[in-house]
Amino acid sequence: MKILFVASECAPFVKTGGLADVIGAVPKSLSELGADARVMLPAYPALSALARGGKEVWNSGDLHGGPARLVAVSSEGIDLLLLDAPHLFERSGNIYLGADGQDWPDNALRFGALSYVAAEVAALGVDGWRPDIVHAHDWQAGLVPAYLRQRPEKTPPCVLTIHNIAFQGLFDPSLMTTLGLSSDLYTSEGMEYFGRLGFLKAGIAFCDKITTVSPTYARELMLPEFGMGLEGLLRARGADLSGILNGIDLDMWNPEDDPHLVSAYSVRRLKGKSANRAEVVRRFGLDEDAGGPLFCVISRLTTQKGLDLLLEALPTLVARGGKLAVLGSGDKDLEAGFVAAAHTHGGSVGVIIGYDEPLSHLMQAGSDAILIPSRFEPCGLTQLYGLRYGTLPVVARTGGLADTVIDANEAALTANCATGVQFAPVTKTALDQAILRTCDLYDDPKIWAGMMRRAMRHPVGWDVSAQTYHDVYSDLLDAHALQG
Ligand code: ADP
Ligand code: GLC
Repeated sequence: MKILFVASECAPFVKTGGLADVIGAVPKSLSELGADARVMLPAYPALSALARGGKEVWNSGDLHGGPARLVAVSSEGIDLLLLDAPHLFERSGNIYLGADGQDWPDNALRFGALSYVAAEVAALGVDGWRPDIVHAHDWQAGLVPAYLRQRPEKTPPCVLTIHNIAFQGLFDPSLMTTLGLSSDLYTSEGMEYFGRLGFLKAGIAFCDKITTVSPTYARELMLPEFGMGLEGLLRARGADLSGILNGIDLDMWNPEDDPHLVSAYSVRRLKGKSANRAEVVRRFGLDEDAGGPLFCVISRLTTQKGLDLLLEALPTLVARGGKLAVLGSGDKDLEAGFVAAAHTHGGSVGVIIGYDEPLSHLMQAGSDAILIPSRFEPCGLTQLYGLRYGTLPVVARTGGLADTVIDANEAALTANCATGVQFAPVTKTALDQAILRTCDLYDDPKIWAGMMRRAMRHPVGWDVSAQTYHDVYSDLLDAHALQG
């Protein structure tokens, strides 16, 4: 089975969040099931050297103001199709935002181009390769099914995965013409979203099958509290919507063999974790004394992640003897809030503003618990890394967090199945209580070590979910074949 992934990020090449981890991992797991998966990505500067060394398989005279070509190249075990269009993608800094922190003004054209070329490959094939299935991810690839619909040829079925409905790709409808989209697609059942042109909405309306990244988020998406205006359309397409839980790349995230750790450890030899803890304490300027648990946060600093509540709950954490190491960047107010908290609670709270992949691995290894108080969380990956590294997740009961962490309540502790702490609702009071409950559990070394071992044994790889994606593709192909 040949599958074309279309996305805007892919680890380890280019990453702003969990989407990249997923796109970097799923195609490899599908290959292990015998599939031939290729990933189409824009050739941002981080990929242009690779693009120069690849094989040109397609080119266009002009695509939205400049030449564009598609280059096939393999790297890090992934077969890539890079859309090399320097006028759209050869820009320094963030892949979505300019230096002023605002979206690039031509994002509609940039990601419209990605979707357009993906549909071209799906319809005609390149270099003797034509996919059986197209798998588009998030709003950046949302126009793929719209373009497929406009092709005169018979085209393969298209799956759309929603990683986060908060990002919808909304633009001025006057761009329809420039994007080469037929005006009859601009309806309230189609790509119109409250008077705007919605890329994600187009994807949801026109794809053959919608998936999202956890079963709970699939249910939440159909509710007004979470659907962000698309809940009606998602309810209407409910029969085609399912949640498939994300996994993690077990080779890249392995405490027994992680180059970013100062000491390797395993579920059988937990001792090695303490040297990593000492290094995190040192890097974040925390006090050496033992006592309470070391919590960490590794996150985009945004309202979604509920970290404003953590700022409010910090006095509780510190008074109970806990420590906190925060790595993140995002909203300027939250950045300033955490920097100020590190001054106020010197020695107990340490903050590094920025994005640092190696440090994130060290923190997963060296912390006792990872805090994720998200207001919504489609899946979340950092709690999965936490489980694998025996760093117990303390999470809001929402989305994928609810699906992956087993709360240490009385019954779960008695049944020996707890792997972390969950709380609801997402309020300061409930977070305070979750932090205090975590500290109580930590005070009992036998309970804590038992939870660590169970967490580390909890299955977090891709094998089950990759098989589920494979089944989704097979079902679509069968249905497609029956339709003739
Ligand atoms: P989201 O995609 O909503 O940001 P996820 O939990 O799915 O949330 O994925 C976030 C990914 O980004 C994880 O791999 C996490 O380790 C990583 N990450 C987030 N912030 C940072 C940071 N400041 N430095 C390094 N890695 C980070
Ligand atoms: C999004 C979501 C996150 C999810 C990731 C990968 O960024 O916010 O919860 O884990 O996509 O699917």
